[in-house]
Amino acid sequence: MSIKKHSVYQKAISQINACLDGESNMILKMSTINAVIKQHLSYCYWIGFYCVNEGELIVGPYQGTLGCLHIPFSKGVCGRAAITQQVQIVEDVHKDPSHIACDAATNSEIVLPVFNNNNQLIAVFDIDSTDKGAFDEIDGQYLSEILQAHFKDKPLTETYL
Ligand code: SME
Repeated sequence: MSIKKHSVYQKAISQINACLDGESNMILKMSTINAVIKQHLSYCYWIGFYCVNEGELIVGPYQGTLGCLHIPFSKGVCGRAAITQQVQIVEDVHKDPSHIACDAATNSEIVLPVFNNNNQLIAVFDIDSTDKGAFDEIDGQYLSEILQAHFKDKPLTETYL
């Protein structure tokens, strides 16, 4: 499985980099990353960003069933990723008391902090799977690389204006 993950992510990263070359709009980047990763990652059920807004996380661009709209920093795996600013890999969400179940079909999850080029937390990136134990350090490594390349290393614009 790990060998396959490497090739899947290398293809996805190549496509993301080609699509986002020269782009700076945050919403455009989030939407594109969602679409490409969901297309390549067979075990991705829900994928999206929760954006930092007025002291909480609010749902941003996503693909999948209805995601909850607001998440306080004190709640959920997303809130824990925001507070700790560390990648959260949950092998079985049913064993994580802080997990917020937006969809009962979710069994495992990875959530990563997203930083801008001023090293400020701007969002968390959340991917859910219906499989238990779907995510590991390989996912964390490649997803962190994507977020670093397209949010931390380049200035962002946030509106269409
Ligand atoms: N499971 C997340 C909430 C977002 S839904 O998965 C889309 C959490 O526990 O923070």
